[in-house]
Amino acid sequence: MRVNLPVSKISFDLISIFPDYFAPLKLSLIGKAEENGLVEIKIHDLRDQASGVHKSVDDTPYGGGAGMVMSPEPWGKAIDQVLESSNATEHELIVLTPAGEKLTQKLAAELATKEHLIFACGRYEGIDHRVTDYYKTVPGVRVRELSIGDYVLGGGEVATLVTMEAVIRLIPGVLGNPDSLVEESHSLPEEVVEYPNYTKPATWRGLDVPEVLLSGNHALIKKWRMEQAQIRTRNLEGQTGE
Ligand code: 6GU
Repeated sequence: MRVNLPVSKISFDLISIFPDYFAPLKLSLIGKAEENGLVEIKIHDLRDQASGVHKSVDDTPYGGGAGMVMSPEPWGKAIDQVLESSNATEHELIVLTPAGEKLTQKLAAELATKEHLIFACGRYEGIDHRVTDYYKTVPGVRVRELSIGDYVLGGGEVATLVTMEAVIRLIPGVLGNPDSLVEESHSLPEEVVEYPNYTKPATWRGLDVPEVLLSGNHALIKKWRMEQAQIRTRNLEGQTGE
């Protein structure tokens, strides 16, 4: 018998100057999650908050230097509007930046327990730092600067898509088969590195599926999979020099 899990609906508000970047959210796992009422996703165009004929959202950096910095005013307006129209009591304001805390499976799991996530997608050389400083002082708002890895992207939009996919698949009811989460989190020793998988046919282009997987011996299969996952983990560590 399967016990019904409590269904929590997480609200996502995405703020960007390129709202079209988020078209893929209608597809696949995330699209289904929204259709099924497990998540609510709203996309906001930062430029709607810009004033002046040019609807400018950036300016030159104080102190000089290359590139442009996103102005605090449109960001303040956009985030205030999102906060005002939310009925959540606590808000996670996630500011995407290569200088942020690194996204991990652990952090994704933590974010999957929150009621309201706001993703602020910066472009250019980032957002005026007073925006994060200001919202850190607002009660009910937790500000997190988040990065998805050690490389530089053109903006936070793709990082938002990555983070949302990692978070949303962990929300109860989103995955068709929740057992795949149980396997990830408990039976494997190290985070998300998995053992290799095979399906039919048993022979393909002269390559056979490892015999142990056809043996029906579940204890032996489990042991083999653990070993394979460990081999993969060790190979990855060699690659990153850890
Ligand atoms: Cl969140 N933003 C940008 N611009 N580059 C990144 C990143 C974020 N994470 C890794 N590289």
